[in-house]
Amino acid sequence: MNKLLSICDIQDNVLEILELANKFKKGEMPLKPLEGKSLAMIFQKSSTRTRVSFEVGMYELGGTSLFLSQSDLQMGRGEPINDTAKVLSRYVNGIMIRANNHGEVEELARAAEVPVISGLTNLEHPCQALADAQTIKEHLGGFKNKKLCFMGDGNNVCNSLLLISACLGMDMFVACPEGYEPNEEIIKKALDVSKNTGSEIVITHDSKIAANNADVVYTDVWVSMGDEVEEAKRKKDLSKYQVNSELMKLANENAIFMHCLPAIRGEEVTSDVIDGNQSVIFDEAENRLHAQKAVLYYFLK
Ligand code: CP
Ligand code: NVA
Repeated sequence: MNKLLSICDIQDNVLEILELANKFKKGEMPLKPLEGKSLAMIFQKSSTRTRVSFEVGMYELGGTSLFLSQSDLQMGRGEPINDTAKVLSRYVNGIMIRANNHGEVEELARAAEVPVISGLTNLEHPCQALADAQTIKEHLGGFKNKKLCFMGDGNNVCNSLLLISACLGMDMFVACPEGYEPNEEIIKKALDVSKNTGSEIVITHDSKIAANNADVVYTDVWVSMGDEVEEAKRKKDLSKYQVNSELMKLANENAIFMHCLPAIRGEEVTSDVIDGNQSVIFDEAENRLHAQKAVLYYFLK
């Protein structure tokens, strides 16, 4: 296995990686298992959590990482992505990339001779979904008979959550306006996987159906990186899908609130919910580090 661009790439290994993440968190893994290894990290978009958790993760595993923004690379001046992949493969043991275009990352992975890990594209955010699953397990004890409600834009985060929910046998209901549905291929794939795991996957325009008796209420920004030109339209279209205290009342009493962050209070979620006692956003952000270490260990060891 040489890539993690989609949850589909680790479909049969999700539980194993989550177990590793849990062991890293508890300090039960060997110290510095990636000593002498290096990771190139290409960023075409901004990042706080992904950059810091990969960088600190590599350091804690005994390896080193190189932060390469698009403007630092010849790629930014038009060097082909295939050449970049081949050259980097001669220097480093792995490549992490946050990119605008999922297709470009697939191209990079085809050309690379070392593992390639996505740190978010327009289509998916697999490392986020792993940290989210770890957080859900910690707070709810497991995935079976649990219901995740995703409110708002059927975006990259939503797509990866659909796939990981299907893999783990967790039910997932997405409530979004017309035209904001998750990727069609991903829905098909999630439905396909769910036949074996028993999870219920539902895409609806009705936020009440999605939130009813949910164990996890999840949302993400209405305007993702790259969607800025549609900002005004998106805010108008998505306004009915805000997570607020009224919506939280429909979920289970002990439901947790999750958000990959960064969040915009007053838009996709109100302050009382995201800063309230049901919110687990900082556990979720912390788990990016543990899950990332598991991913790095799994692919680079
Ligand atoms: N959740 C997440 O990926 O955050 P960053 O954009 O800060 O990396
Ligand atoms: N959907 C958001 C996630 C940021 C971590 C974006 O793509 O901008």
